[in-house]
Amino acid sequence: MIIKAPKRPYLLLFLFLGLAGCNTSTSSTSTTTDTTEAVATNTQGQASGNEVVLSEQALANARTNYTTYCAGCHGSELETFINRDWKYGTAHTAMFTSIKEGHPTTGMPGFANTLSDEEINNLATFIRQGIVNKQAQNTSEGTGNDMAGVIRSEEVSFRLDTIVTGIEVPWGMAFLPNGDMLVTERSGTLYRLTNDRQLQKIEGAPEVLAEGQGGLLDVELHPDFRNNNVIFLSYSAVKREGGETLSTTAIMRAQLDGNALKNKKVIFEGQPWTKTRHHYGSRIEFGPDGNLYFTMGDRGGTFENPQDLSRHAGKTHRIKEDGSIPQDNPFVNKQGALPSIYTYGNRNPQGLALNTSTKEMWAHEHGPKGGDEVNILEKGANYGWPVVTYGIDYNGSIISNEQRKEGIKDPIHYWVPSIAPSGMAFVTGNRYKGWEGDLLSGSMSFKFLSRAKVEGNQIVGEERLLKDIGRVRDVKMSPDGYVYIAVERPGAIFRLVPVDTQ
Ligand code: HEC
Repeated sequence: MIIKAPKRPYLLLFLFLGLAGCNTSTSSTSTTTDTTEAVATNTQGQASGNEVVLSEQALANARTNYTTYCAGCHGSELETFINRDWKYGTAHTAMFTSIKEGHPTTGMPGFANTLSDEEINNLATFIRQGIVNKQAQNTSEGTGNDMAGVIRSEEVSFRLDTIVTGIEVPWGMAFLPNGDMLVTERSGTLYRLTNDRQLQKIEGAPEVLAEGQGGLLDVELHPDFRNNNVIFLSYSAVKREGGETLSTTAIMRAQLDGNALKNKKVIFEGQPWTKTRHHYGSRIEFGPDGNLYFTMGDRGGTFENPQDLSRHAGKTHRIKEDGSIPQDNPFVNKQGALPSIYTYGNRNPQGLALNTSTKEMWAHEHGPKGGDEVNILEKGANYGWPVVTYGIDYNGSIISNEQRKEGIKDPIHYWVPSIAPSGMAFVTGNRYKGWEGDLLSGSMSFKFLSRAKVEGNQIVGEERLLKDIGRVRDVKMSPDGYVYIAVERPGAIFRLVPVDTQ
């Protein structure tokens, strides 16, 4: 890792830990608020209540517990606790109860079986003091960016150009040859973002199940789009059966005619259809061989799907542009195996990109708690989920003791703690001096853009850009060589414009 002397040293005090798909926000609906208490403690410069000052050792232990068990959902720097609309309160006892018993229906696990009362007490103190310190820091510090609007990174200084706002969850982006962009909004709308920054709705997008992590997901152009106007959309398909609403990852091929889709054909529907609403995967990318590669997450069927070749879930797939199967796919001749499968043992890959210098397909996927991976896709390879993993389950229980195993492909890089990666692009062109060939990935849990330094087939360092920008859902290079990122809630698309600061 490239660890740079940070502008804000406390950034490195906490390790980063993320959980894919947990959605805590700073704005939970409030029934009781006692933020007044937090404000009062702030002005006094110390925590009040039945707090003891923690010894250095106790503080270090509390920080470790926080990093291990809490940061994934609450942010490595207590993000979700800062300026929070507190639901149960910041009083020490209220926090203690929240941590010990949890709020199972809303996604806060209880830690009674994992942590002792003393550890929970210390965690509550740690959080209460952290809130006070962080608020004090925020008022005494600027944004960390010295020149107005200019963001400095290790190699490139740039400013952010806001291209559009008002799309709640922009999930996928694809540039059209004329400079317009297609953007999916997860709730189900496909937009054309014109090069003069107008959002226009495109008619005829597929019906989607916009629940949980599902909805209208990725968009990709046919390599010969200029001549055939063909696009591909991935989405959470829905069907109602026996009183149940089932869903799966699907791919639609369609022709873009002005602002409408026609000649629509569903070319892939993953098996099995399930009642779960998460781990759809769904990134689509054309490979150097002209085939369509895409990902399907395990759909929550950890132990049923990824290692079973008769199920689509928990795999990456390779099909032809018309949906038929390339005859050199790895499992076409294997009895009982689904022929579209290209790799298996995948958990929930939400990043897929062609490395244009090596002509290989790279993917990243959400691990469980800890253990997000970057993989180079190799025909027929098993990436190990859930047989081996670098991560553990949310409550700290072990999924697998093994991190490596014969016959299982090791990731080339893993993020422990997890960053919840989404969207992936290699830096191409020459606008960003020093970033050429680097791998960009969005982080949803920690809300930054990751720039991983790539050398050949290795990741040799990482810089985290745009800290706290919001959940970065997608990243793409435009044909004219700019990095574009799509950020959630409030949704926005930004362009990184390099500036000369000499
Ligand atoms: C899997 C995600 C997850 C993990 C892990 C997690 N939390 Fe939470 N936590 C939540 C959610 C979601 C809520 C909001 C619950 C609600 O709104 O009812 C919450 C609420 C809380 C609250 C109450 C906040 C309020 O508004 O009153 C506290 C305190 C808290 N968590 C502390 C912790 C601590 C300490 C840990 C680690 C030991 C932890 N949490 C681990 C998801 C998580």
